[in-house]
Amino acid sequence: MKKYNISFDDITTFEVNLINACNLKCPLCLRQSNDFKNSLYYKPIREIKLDHLISFLDKLPNLRRAVLMGAVSEPTLYSKFFEFIKYLKSRDIVLRISTNGSTHNPKWWAELGTLLSKDDIVRFPIEGPTNELHSKYRVNSSLQKVLENHKALKENSEAITVAQMIQFQYNRKYKNDVKELAKKEGFDYCTWIKCYPSNDYIKNIRPEKKIEKFYERYFNDNIFKKEKCIICDAYNRKEIYLAHNNYVYLCGVHDEVKNSPFQKWKASLNENLDEIFKKLNKQLNSINNDICRSNCNTMCYNVGIYFPDYVNNLKTGDQYEINYFSKELTNIDEQKLKLI
Ligand SMILES: C[S@@+](CC[C@H](N)C(=O)[O-])C[C@H]1O[C@@H](n2cnc3c(N)ncnc32)[C@H](O)[C@@H]1O
Ligand code: SF4
Ligand code: SF4
Repeated sequence: MKKYNISFDDITTFEVNLINACNLKCPLCLRQSNDFKNSLYYKPIREIKLDHLISFLDKLPNLRRAVLMGAVSEPTLYSKFFEFIKYLKSRDIVLRISTNGSTHNPKWWAELGTLLSKDDIVRFPIEGPTNELHSKYRVNSSLQKVLENHKALKENSEAITVAQMIQFQYNRKYKNDVKELAKKEGFDYCTWIKCYPSNDYIKNIRPEKKIEKFYERYFNDNIFKKEKCIICDAYNRKEIYLAHNNYVYLCGVHDEVKNSPFQKWKASLNENLDEIFKKLNKQLNSINNDICRSNCNTMCYNVGIYFPDYVNNLKTGDQYEINYFSKELTNIDEQKLKLI
């Protein structure tokens, strides 16, 4: 098998899990599983130290994009959020923020808006056109709060905003209502994405039937085990992942999943750069394992081919298919959707 190599100056993108806290209780989020609640990851609440984070990022000269999503947490709860954004913007790093949109107040979101620039993207969830439908999944959130926070940000920002709807059995028929609402509220894009696999489906809070069947086949028949790992999404995007507890992995999957083989090569932000990349290269050359195979390799790659996600440009009315491995949008090229 070909040996892969990444070095610090290859890295253009990083994802960071700033904190391990969240204010919502979305039923299928990994946070709600018992395994997770009993793990060290969940408690105590900890956040990444900003000075450690910045001194590490300062060593990566070619960064151009930051993904502030949170593996199983809410990035906007990070106490140094604005300071961190200011650092990233001082380096012209483009941001993609995925938030539940239900933290703080409109004043805070307006301030965030002023810090962002035109290539930055902020994704807010809208799980249905009414509060009842939205809060059925986004437990402890209200649609009104998300829309108010979005409005405050949008009125004070050039950033692109995306309304993201997860398609469950219970809300599928409201897809176009969500799109219309997003348009009325001034979002730039509206996207419909698949519900991911889970062991904790509740009544109709689950993916549509054919997708659920597909997942079952993959996992129950162990189909994924028979296939070879050929793609590393992180490698393709020259991306690394930084965990709230200072560990560095190729991607967040190995932070979330218990017993990842990569645990033995987890690097710490505070180690020297050579040591960190030595360990990341060990991870990269060991992707032929069941966790990689069942995540971004056979499962996601195939599910992306058979059941693509969609994004609608609300200004032009155009609809695009999103390739699983190109999930992020960018508005380089004058707001045209460009897959990277
Ligand atoms: C775990 S969340 C962390 C970020 C933030 N707290 C949020 O909810 O947007 C990461 C991503 O997973 C998405 N997500 C949550 N539940 C999902 C589900 N059942 N199926 C697919 N995506 C889901 C979120 O909308 C978000 O885009
Ligand atoms: S808001 Fe995000 S991190 Fe929080 S419970 Fe929901 S999906 Fe999980
Ligand atoms: S799951 Fe494995 S193969 Fe996929 S991006 Fe992460 S490290 Fe790479």
